[in-house]
Amino acid sequence: MTDEIPATYAGPQRVLSGVQPSGDLHLGNYLGALVKFARLQHEVPTFIFVADLHAITAWQEPAKLKGQVREIAAAYLATGLDPKVATIFPQSAVPEHTELAWVFNCVARLGWLDRMTQFKDKAGKHKERASVGLYTYPVLQAADILVYKATQVPVGDDQKQHLELTRDIAGKFNHDFAAPGFFPLPEPLTQGPGARIMSLRDGAAKMSKSDPSDNSRINLTDDAETIAQKVRKARTDADPLPELIADLAGRAEALNLIGIYAALEGRTAQDVLTEYAGQGFGAFKPRLADLAVSVMGPIGAEMRRLMADPAEIDRILGDGAERARAVAAPTVAEVRKLVGLWAG
Ligand code: TRP
Repeated sequence: MTDEIPATYAGPQRVLSGVQPSGDLHLGNYLGALVKFARLQHEVPTFIFVADLHAITAWQEPAKLKGQVREIAAAYLATGLDPKVATIFPQSAVPEHTELAWVFNCVARLGWLDRMTQFKDKAGKHKERASVGLYTYPVLQAADILVYKATQVPVGDDQKQHLELTRDIAGKFNHDFAAPGFFPLPEPLTQGPGARIMSLRDGAAKMSKSDPSDNSRINLTDDAETIAQKVRKARTDADPLPELIADLAGRAEALNLIGIYAALEGRTAQDVLTEYAGQGFGAFKPRLADLAVSVMGPIGAEMRRLMADPAEIDRILGDGAERARAVAAPTVAEVRKLVGLWAG
């Protein structure tokens, strides 16, 4: 059968990405990921899942996990993913991810995983106490992507290394099992106006769910008053806004707020600066607060509406899982044959 596989990947383009159900989603996730998912779904067949298997690499309260999965699904829907267009599903509902991950555990080399900086960051000083799952996390991520033969993966900059590993695994699998074009070598899609949304308290740190200060981020579920208050409290400086982006060098907080404004309105940062040049933050912040409330407020409201009907979310996720399996199962069946495993 291997001679039927072309030398380079010749299958369809597919987009795939996922978000872990561990902690609240915020403006950075919205602008950096969710907006992109909603746009891409109309361009390329798109698979977006909730990464519950990745979440359990760190402890998750069993009684809460399904609720967390539903909340991410609600965020996907509230930010414009259409379950009739995109395939939306929980990772653990498609066992082909874990099956392929095992095979990939046997393809990836220890040396490759030893280089992964996210493991080092997350495991901290006591890596002997981290779960084995945390170590092999990027191998499961490669399986998530390649089980759908995805070609484009919208992710943040911090995931670039995991995408490199994914390409290494795909290349080695194709080589070792004499199947040159079997898996594509997927590319990360990291660009976009929301690529670098920083903390509202520190322009040098990315907006993050693990920041101890809730004022550092705008959560998708924050109400209008909270959003406005966080914008008002955002760290800035006393200088007026300049005319050119280049003149914001060294003013990370100012640059971040301009960037957020631009991303929320789908304009360039320079365009926003041109409008506000010469004005101070006393004038700019209320405008940003209004804009953030007008974009984020309805998303939070829609999430709350969806969360009130968990049965409907489950129906959407169940339907998505079925469609996902229809794509994933044939890949795993072919992998079984290529590897020489028992194919039944
Ligand atoms: N590791 C990703 C993150 O933390 C989440 C993720 C898991 C993912 N599997 C994936 C993203 C596959 C893209 C593709 O952001």
